[in-house]
Amino acid sequence: MIAKPDVVTEPGQKATCLPGGLRHVGVIMDGNGRWAQARGLSRTEGHRHGLDSLRRMIRHSVAIGLRFVTVYSFSSENWNRPETEVSFLMALLRRFVQRDLSEIHQANVKIRVIGDRETLEPGIRQLLVDAEELTRDNTGMTLVVAFNYGSRDEITRAVRTLAKKVEAGQINPVDITGDMIGEELDTAGIPDPDLIIRTSGEMRLSNFLMWQAAYSEFYFCQCHWPDFDEVEFDRALADYAGRERRFGGLKAKAL
Ligand code: FPP
Repeated sequence: MIAKPDVVTEPGQKATCLPGGLRHVGVIMDGNGRWAQARGLSRTEGHRHGLDSLRRMIRHSVAIGLRFVTVYSFSSENWNRPETEVSFLMALLRRFVQRDLSEIHQANVKIRVIGDRETLEPGIRQLLVDAEELTRDNTGMTLVVAFNYGSRDEITRAVRTLAKKVEAGQINPVDITGDMIGEELDTAGIPDPDLIIRTSGEMRLSNFLMWQAAYSEFYFCQCHWPDFDEVEFDRALADYAGRERRFGGLKAKAL
């Protein structure tokens, strides 16, 4: 059962309970395959354990009062994997929504899904819509599930929408601002991630929240995703707490 956080903030309100004003953590859950391989297991077994780790992280995030967590669950490039693995990941998403949704809802968590839905199987698309609908009025943490998501695809879709508005004479190209682009992204209304964690030793963004991560802090750890537990998570948050964020400005004491 997911525990309700001790300190609850309302939407739009800054979470003051976490160091450094931390509100939003993005997670690239990498290393399921290597974790399985190291144990002589199939890659799908790694993903199965990866789902357990995801559950653990959601519970912990709620417990500590995080406002937003975005998880990279299936990228727009993951279709290039063997068909059996792709099918397994689709089945895992179904299992996650079917088995965990009521617990997530009870914990007052709101689900948002980002990514291209058009190319998903209608059954999965409906499942995601239902999960969003059920939890839309929840006021606790927002769990953003990046599924069939890729930043380049997201930005391309946003540009197309803006181009159509220009074509229709609704906006003038010179009036387009960064904020207007942000409003057309799948993440509209969600604050940019403060911290992005990537497990398993890889140090790249892999098409994850590229626009939104302009001023995010990054944390890379060696541990594979299925081994990423509360202790590892707290270690990442403690590391973040020691960072100084300047957003292109100067250090506070230099002002
Ligand atoms: C990357 O590890 C992980 C993924 C592509 C899938 C992430 C999925 C989960 C954590 C399980 C939860 C899933 C859903 C759909 C809710 P990798 O396979 O690239 O690992 P490797 O780099 O070691 O091969």
